[in-house]
This record gives sequence, C-alpha cells and structure tokens, in this order.
Amino acid sequence: MDKKYKIITYGCQMNLHESEKMAGMLQQLGYTPTETIEDADLILFNTCCIRENAENHAFGNIGALKQMKKKNPNLIIAVGGCMMQEKGKAETLKEKFPFIDVMFGTLNLEELGALIREKLAGKKRVVRIREKEGEIVEFDGAYRTSYPNAWVNIMYGCNNFCSYCIVPYVRGRERSRKPENIVAEVKRLVAEGYKEITLLGQNVNSYGMDGLGVSFAELLDMIASIEGKFRLRFMTSHPKDFNEDVVKVMQKHRKIMRLVHLPVQSGSNDILKAMNRRYTREKYLAEVEMLRSYFPDAELTTDIIVGFPGETEEDYLLTEDLVKKADFASAFTFIYSKRQGTKAAEMENQIPEDVQKDRIMRLVELVNSLTRAKSEKYIGKEVEILCEGYDEKKGLYLGRDEYGRMGYFASDRDEVGNFVRLKITKANGISLYGELLSSENE
Ligand code: 5AD
Ligand code: SF4
Repeated sequence: MDKKYKIITYGCQMNLHESEKMAGMLQQLGYTPTETIEDADLILFNTCCIRENAENHAFGNIGALKQMKKKNPNLIIAVGGCMMQEKGKAETLKEKFPFIDVMFGTLNLEELGALIREKLAGKKRVVRIREKEGEIVEFDGAYRTSYPNAWVNIMYGCNNFCSYCIVPYVRGRERSRKPENIVAEVKRLVAEGYKEITLLGQNVNSYGMDGLGVSFAELLDMIASIEGKFRLRFMTSHPKDFNEDVVKVMQKHRKIMRLVHLPVQSGSNDILKAMNRRYTREKYLAEVEMLRSYFPDAELTTDIIVGFPGETEEDYLLTEDLVKKADFASAFTFIYSKRQGTKAAEMENQIPEDVQKDRIMRLVELVNSLTRAKSEKYIGKEVEILCEGYDEKKGLYLGRDEYGRMGYFASDRDEVGNFVRLKITKANGISLYGELLSSENE
C-alpha cells in the first residue's frame, strides 16, 4: 500500500531546503507526500532553535501527536533539525515524548533514509545524532516544492559566534561545497526550468575561505555565466566581509537581482561590539553607500534584534536612525531571545520584556512606513515580475520584481514560472497591484 509522509518545518530558508532534501530521501523509500497529518504514515518535524518561540512551537506540536500515536501505533514520528543538535535536547525530548520513533540532527541529515529503514525493520527507537560536522555529503535528490525558485546550498555552518546566536553550536564550522558541484546543480536546475536560483549560506561572503581557493565573488561570476534566462540571488551576506568584488560581479551580470540581504542587527556600536559582529555602524553605512554608488536603486533588506542585553534607549534610537539612513526595503525584526550556551545568555542587564515589546512595536512601525513610501513610488511604473504562485484568497497571481518587491495581477491562464510585465496601478503596504501588459509565453 502507498505510504504517505508529512514534513513540518520550522525556521529559515536553510531549513525549508533541508526539508526538501528529507522529502527526497523519504520518496526514495517509497513514501509519497500528503498535506493532511491524519493521512500520514510518517510525520517528520524539522526543528529550529534560533529563538525560544520556534522551540516552544515544535514542542507543542510534537506533544499534540501523543493521541494519534496511541490510535495508530504504526505511525512513525521522526524529529530532526537544529534543535536536536542542542546539548541535552534529545534527552529532554526522549523523556518528554517517549513515542518519538526516530531522532537525528542537521549534521547527519543524509542518514535519514537508513534510520527510517532501521525503524521499519522493527527497532523500537532509532536515535543518531552527530556531535561534530563531517565531510559534506552531496545529495541531488531533493524534492523541490518552491518552483520557480530553487534553493542551492553553497556552504554549511558558521564560524562567527555572534554572542546571541546558537547557530555555530548546532551547525558546526563552515564548510564550502566544491564550485563544480554547485555549478553542475544550477545548470541542471536551469535546464529543468527553474527561473530563480537562491544561493544559501549562513555567511556567503566567507565561501571558499576554508581552503577552496575560490572566493564568493568568483563563484557568483561562474554561476551568473550559466546560459539561460533565470534570476540569481544569494543570502545571507555578513557586513564584516561584504565587499566591492561582489558588487562588481553584480554589475557584470543582469541576472543577479538588485537586492542584497545584509543583516545589521543593531545601529549602535556598543551593542554591535557586545554582539561580536566585528563591524561598526559607519562601516555598515559605507557599504550601503558603495552598493548604491553602483546601483542607485538597489534594495536592501536586513535583520534587526531589539532588546539585546544592555541596550539602552539611546542604543535603540541609533538603530532607528540607521534604518532611516540605510532606507531598507523591508526588515525582519526580532526580540532578543536568550539561548543557553551563548555568551549573551550570561550577560548582565537582560532587558525587561515590556521594554523589548515597546521597542519592537516602534521599529516595526518605522520599517512599515519606509516600505509604504517605497511602494507608493512604484505607482505608474512598469516592472518585470517572475510569477511565483496564485493567491486563492485574492484570486490573483503573485510574483516579485528584481528588487524583491511583491506584485499581484490578474490573468486568465496559468502564469506560474513566467516572466510578466506589469503596469503598477495600486500600492498597499508591501504589496503592489498591476495590470498585465505582456507575458513571456505570448
Ligand atoms: N534572538 C533573536 N534573534 C536572533 N537571531 C539569531 N539569534 C537570535 C536570538 N538569540 C536573528 C538574527 C539573525 C536571524 C536569522 O535571526 O537577526 O540574522
Ligand atoms: Fe548566527 Fe552570526 Fe552566524 Fe548569522 S553570522 S548564523 S547571526 S553566528
């Protein structure tokens, strides 16, 4: 009989793409995907631990399966992802949820198929978590669900140890994939019809610094030189080593989107120092200026944390000031979350929740006002959108332009995966609405 799986993913693009790899591995075992949890023979949680609420979410949802497992003892429950790499977490989960069948981590993701097979062969519970990263294991069987976009890892791990961040502890040291493997993967994806390639790494600017002899700028140049019409983007850049070489490659290739995700985290030098970010607000703003000297209309997105230990109202206001100066298109804003084992968790002067909440509300309002002002400027303009999907609620297609701006439009045929030209007629917050002028398939 047909066996079905459902994967529940928490966290970032990196995790979403790793879920696509896990899905590919399950399919190789003969499983097929289902949308409904009740129909699944195997439920897999791909967890995230970057902030406490992501963890609480996963705990809640795993706990809720206890009854399902009672009713159907053949149901396999597997838990993987970043949370499993945290010290002591697997033990806590084992005790709290004895009904979990398979546990594995991000550092031995490639073993998923073998672990499920062991379980199917009759083992009561299979737990295998690697403590240290190993060699990169190439896997080209990802089951992708994000057409027309395809994510491609260029490297794994992080060496930066920002003082608030748990990632270096759970994902190990930086390892870069060989350039020939990356280029081959992108070529294959473009030949299969993918129209947007997103290169993924915790800090793409340090690609190759682990002794490969190829820099990120060189890799980007190689990939952008691949024939075919597709867009190329990359994330995440780290301001400590984002540089002009990369921007020069952007200038050489129209394929590379005019959009850079450059997390600033804070606008205060004192806080940046305490965060161990290794750049100043002046350096950050100089990079923004450098980027815009090449592309005056380049868009920047960012990540910001408020309420880091010791953050004063003055520090916070410096963040507001930097947000205005950098003129971000949008920003992911987070309340600082204390992570066991990180340096910041030991710091004095943890900020009370009400102060954190007040700051995040003010920051979100500021970011939204910048986004709204940018959207208004689009009215009357023509843009090229890569159609990504259909919004059932709105009854409209949607996609993004090369600056990452979301646009909606009506069409009487399937436009997903097409490059279309729109005339923007309306703006609403972050979203633009336009009239369809032409589609590449006409
Ligand atoms: N608390 C809040 N936000 C965090 N991030 C990373 N660690 C934490 C933490 N402990 C944010 C950073 C990073 C993004 C992926 O998540 O802004 O850029
Ligand atoms: Fe975390 Fe800093 Fe590494 Fe990003 S660069 S994953 S914030 S330690």
